[in-house]
Amino acid sequence: MIRRRPASDNTSRPQSNRGRRGDQARSLLIEGAAVVATPRGNHALAGPEQGAIQLIPDAVVRCEGSDVVFVGKRREHDRRFQRPNEILEAADGTVIPGFVDPHTHLPFAGYREGEFDRRLAGESYAQIAASGGGIVSTVAATRRASFTELLQLTLRRLDRQLLCGTTTTEAKSGYGLELEAELKQLRVLEQAGERHPVEVVPTAMPAHEVPVEWRHDADGYVNVVVREIYPAIAAERLAEQVDVFCERGVFTPDQTRRLLADAKHLGWRIHLHADELCDLGGAALAAETGAAAASHLLYASREGIAAMARAGVIAIALPGVSFFLRDRFAPVRELVKAGVPVAVATDCNPGSSHTESMSAVVALACLGAGLSSEEALVAATLNAAAALGRADRLGSVEVGKQADLVVLDAPSPKHLAYHFGVNLVRHVVKAGKVVVRSGALQTH
Ligand code: NIG
Ligand code: FE
Repeated sequence: MIRRRPASDNTSRPQSNRGRRGDQARSLLIEGAAVVATPRGNHALAGPEQGAIQLIPDAVVRCEGSDVVFVGKRREHDRRFQRPNEILEAADGTVIPGFVDPHTHLPFAGYREGEFDRRLAGESYAQIAASGGGIVSTVAATRRASFTELLQLTLRRLDRQLLCGTTTTEAKSGYGLELEAELKQLRVLEQAGERHPVEVVPTAMPAHEVPVEWRHDADGYVNVVVREIYPAIAAERLAEQVDVFCERGVFTPDQTRRLLADAKHLGWRIHLHADELCDLGGAALAAETGAAAASHLLYASREGIAAMARAGVIAIALPGVSFFLRDRFAPVRELVKAGVPVAVATDCNPGSSHTESMSAVVALACLGAGLSSEEALVAATLNAAAALGRADRLGSVEVGKQADLVVLDAPSPKHLAYHFGVNLVRHVVKAGKVVVRSGALQTH
C-alpha cells in the first residue's frame, strides 16, 4: 500500500505529481525492452490514424526529471548521455504509455452486487433503477459516507488503477446531487490527487441524475445546479470539466443545453453521457455544444456521428458497461470510419461497470466492440489524453512528453487484448518516478 498521511493533514503535498516537474537531476533508464509501442503526436488520432502505433524494437527510454528525453538505441543513448541514476529492467517486455482513463465515477460509497444478481436473473438496468435501485442507492450511501471514508475508498481505487497501469484518471462527482455532498466528492478528489501518484482530472457532475427529492420538478433541480451548485464548485476551483447524463427519464436535451451553456461560462471543458439507453440526439448535441468528448453512444445515430466528426468531438467508448450490462457495444467501427477519434475508459462505478482495469477495457474494446489491438491502444492512451485536454503532455512515449510509462510482461502490445483477463503490468513510471515495481506499489 502507498503510505499516506492522515486525512486531516492537507497542508503538504510531496506525493502529488500534479503540476510538479520533478527533480531535474533525477534520471532513469528503462532498458532491455523487446519493443516500445506508442502513438505519436499532440492530438487525438482518427480514421486511418486511429491504429497508428509506432513500434521501436530494442529501444531504451531515458527520463530526466519528469520528462522523456530519449527513445532509441542503447548505443546512441550511451554516446549522448551519462550513466543514469537509476535503471529499470524491462526484461524483454513492452513499453507503452501509461493508460489515461477518461471516464470514471471513482468517489462513491456502497456496492450494488445485489443488483448484479438481479440483472443476471433477467431484470434490466432501467427496471432496477425504476424500482429504487441504481444511481439513487449509491447517492444515499455516498451522502452518508464521511469525507475520510470516501477518501480512503477513492485512494484504494487509485491504487488499483495504478497497479493496472493507469497513470492519469478523470473522476466525476454525481453521487451527491446536493450542494454539500457534491462538494464533498470533489474535495475528496482534490485531496486524493494531491496524495496519490495517479493524476486526477476532476469533473463536476451534479446533473448525473434527478435526485429523489426533485423528481416532481426536474427543472427546479436544474435551477439549483445552475444557480447554486456550479457556482460553489467554481468558487473552490474543484473541477476542470462538467458532465451531464442526457437520457430519457434523466435530463432532456433542452435541460442539458441549459446546463452546458452555464458550465461553459465557468470555463469548464464539456463531456456528455450521450445515447446510452436510447437515441436522444446526444451525439449531435455534443457537437452542437462544443463538447470535447461524448461517452457511451450505444444508440448514436449516423447523423449524430457525422456531426461529431465535423465538430471534432472525441467518442469515449465504455465497453465495460456493455459487457457488464450485457448490452450492445458502441458502434466503434462506424465512429472510426466517420473520422471520429475513439477513446476508451472504464466508467468505473458500482452499477454499470465495476472495474479499474484499462487492460480489461482494451480487451473488450477489441473482442466485444471490434477495434484492432492497435486502435484500442491509441484509444486508451493518446486519444484518452486528448479527451482530457492533455495530449500535449501525456498519452505517448516521446521526447518532450511527461514520462508516464508502463512496462508490460509481454513481448508485444497485442498481448493486452490477446492475453486477456490477467494483469500484464510489471512496472509503472509516473512523471519519471517508478511507482509500481515488479507488480508492487512503491511507497513514496
Ligand atoms: O456511466 N449512465 C450513468 N452513469 C453511470 C452509471 C452509474 C451507476 O449506475 O451508478 C454510467 O454508466
Ligand atoms: Fe459514466
